Amino acid sequence: MTLLQVMSADNAADVRVRTTDETVIAAELGEYGVTYAHWPVLDEPERIPSEELLERYRAEVAELNASGRYKHIDIARIHPDDANPQWPAIAKGAREKFLDEHRHAEDEVRFFAAGRGCFYLHLGSEVLATVCEAGDLVSVPAGTLHWFDMGDRPDFIAIRFFEEEDGWVGDFSGDKISAGFPTLDELLAAR
Ligand SMILES: [Fe+2]
Repeated sequence: MTLLQVMSADNAADVRVRTTDETVIAAELGEYGVTYAHWPVLDEPERIPSEELLERYRAEVAELNASGRYKHIDIARIHPDDANPQWPAIAKGAREKFLDEHRHAEDEVRFFAAGRGCFYLHLGSEVLATVCEAGDLVSVPAGTLHWFDMGDRPDFIAIRFFEEEDGWVGDFSGDKISAGFPTLDELLAAR
């Protein structure tokens, strides 16, 4: 299930919309040119190797990339590994990478094949927290100020679409706005 929570950019406690209605979510995001769509969810995707996952989504990927715009398509995956003593540091490092507000030179296009993560889109006077879960495809337009939280226990598989090899590189605004907003875990706990 996906969740959208729209808050005032000046005051996270001022919640203007909170919905799991996919039609409402698509309409709200669509107003800002943010694409939101669904692809089928596979059984036990975490057991499927990345190469095979891309193959299983070949038709959907081909349709999305009909223009050939995305030259680099890969899979990012992270799963909790409590047996690994390094896991807490790995999780923290991965999470902190995009927790501060930034933007990219190209659209940030992600399909969640498993797990979850939250994009916070800072659009004018509002912040749209968009929790993506398995089956969700989101495209954040180039230049949009945003941040991403994968939570205390990062756990997701995402297909990523890039025009340039370094398309994932973030241009950080230096604004610490993200610290004042509920984390992914807090957003989910409230539902
Ligand atoms: Fe980003």
